[in-house]
Amino acid sequence: MDTEVSEIATGIYRLSTLVPDVAPGGFAFNQYLVTGEQPLLFHTGQRAMFPLTSAAAATVLPLEQLRWISFGHVEADECGAMNRWLAAAPQAQVLFNGLGINVSLNDLADRPPVVADPDQPIDTGGHVFRTIPTPHVPHGWEAQLLYDRTTRTLFCGDLFTRIGHTPPLVDGADLIEPALAAEDIFHSTAPTALAGKTMRQLAELEIDTLALMHGPAYVGDCRRALLDLADAYDRRLTEAG
Ligand SMILES: [Fe+2]
Ligand SMILES: [Fe+2]
Repeated sequence: MDTEVSEIATGIYRLSTLVPDVAPGGFAFNQYLVTGEQPLLFHTGQRAMFPLTSAAAATVLPLEQLRWISFGHVEADECGAMNRWLAAAPQAQVLFNGLGINVSLNDLADRPPVVADPDQPIDTGGHVFRTIPTPHVPHGWEAQLLYDRTTRTLFCGDLFTRIGHTPPLVDGADLIEPALAAEDIFHSTAPTALAGKTMRQLAELEIDTLALMHGPAYVGDCRRALLDLADAYDRRLTEAG
């Protein structure tokens, strides 16, 4: 396996490792490394993948410069290597919502995490971020996403998850059909009314790029993609009713 590094928006690097055994055609695990005075990593990857992902990150910047580590929810691909990154970057701290910190991260993180207030943008000197709580979407009560106001990028985590290898950045391609096909395999999204509702709220953001955890980064009509995904999940909920 090997980790591909691509700049998908100004100062945002996608570190992507295709793992062959998870699904037909493989399954991509992405981290996003954002440069600036205080570099930020979104998703740590699994512990076992740290040698690969950290070597990839080191081609972008010295690891010890990393200041913030964040992710979408508590799960191995999201935060399994958290303590490896904390050890490699002495200034780094985990940035997460209060619920996730109180429930899990105070216990799991080797260095005290910092509470991210959704109403207080975080200026990292080059990018201004906002964390957005998305409880149970796609899964996990502590779930959150990250929005970079500077580049209008939504780090959308497991939303739009698809299988197989893709180019690092796609323009205007269909995101919905591959996402529903993957959902039929994994059933990873909590099938509640919150799914569609939360996706519609996310669609209100001004988004130029959707940065998927398992798939490409996407430029195109991001609002439409989120609304279409919301409709698809609402339809599934009604059909299951
Ligand atoms: Fe997940
Ligand atoms: Fe994931």
